[in-house]
Amino acid sequence: MKVLVATEKPFAKVAVDGIRKEIEAAGFELALLEKYTDKAQLLDAVKDANAIIIRSDIIDAEVLDAAKELKIVVRAGAGYDNVDLAAATAHNVCVMNTPGQNSNAVAELALGMMVYAVRNFYNGTSGTELMGKKLGIHAYGNVGRNVARVAKGFGMEVYAYDAFCPKEVIEKDGVKALDSAEELYKTCQVVSLHIPATAETKNSINYALLKDMPKGAMLVNTARKEVINEAELIKLMEDRADFKYITDIMPAANAEFAEKFAGRYFSTPKKMGAQTAEANINAGIAAAQQIVGFLKDGCEKFRVNK
Ligand code: 3PG
Repeated sequence: MKVLVATEKPFAKVAVDGIRKEIEAAGFELALLEKYTDKAQLLDAVKDANAIIIRSDIIDAEVLDAAKELKIVVRAGAGYDNVDLAAATAHNVCVMNTPGQNSNAVAELALGMMVYAVRNFYNGTSGTELMGKKLGIHAYGNVGRNVARVAKGFGMEVYAYDAFCPKEVIEKDGVKALDSAEELYKTCQVVSLHIPATAETKNSINYALLKDMPKGAMLVNTARKEVINEAELIKLMEDRADFKYITDIMPAANAEFAEKFAGRYFSTPKKMGAQTAEANINAGIAAAQQIVGFLKDGCEKFRVNK
């Protein structure tokens, strides 16, 4: 059995070594396609792969058509919006993610970006502190929970809204659960986004939702760029000179944001929330173990295309 690691944004070497150990211990062969620049390279590499480990790499119908021997794709990470689930099901390919394995890394980055922003991007001028600020966590999954834990250490007042998580679960963590996204944005000066990109959430972070955030508002996005209505966010930041947007996923309109909103806009050059050795090891090795479990024992835990 051939397991391909196809990562345009590679894992740390230590994680690849760990993946190799798991795959070879199971008697399988590991192939690597890292830092590829062209889809043709991916189409070629998948031809004889029985299993693939990916990150944000796009697995669409064309890739699935090319992967004639493929049985399973594991997205080493949380969000699987980069995989065409319907096409995978049609090709009889199992798709899994590795929930929770990189969530601490993303949460640490979210808090780090908040500090960076309230300290005026470390430009030497007087900023403000996170302590005492109201933080709204939009979606209380694995990353949201870790954000709450770290934010409490900073002395922030932590609120959350999650359409699918019962309020009692949120409140057990000492976090105030609110009834709607509208209430969360009205209440909190800082909002940290942790919603997945789905048909329902795409473009959902819009002018109407953001306009009522308290003075000195800051939106922190370590989730997906697709959930932001960029045109409406630009309009809002034109109307509100106090509004900051800090993101780990570069917007399509990055140049316009950077030009218009200097001093209150920041984007990382490449999504780096999960880019730590620890997260790479956790998610990469979990992916390898899930592949071995599936190919050897038919284990379908973490399957997302039921
Ligand atoms: C995830 O969904 O797990 C994160 O967004 C990390 O994505 P990455 O593996 O592409 O860095």
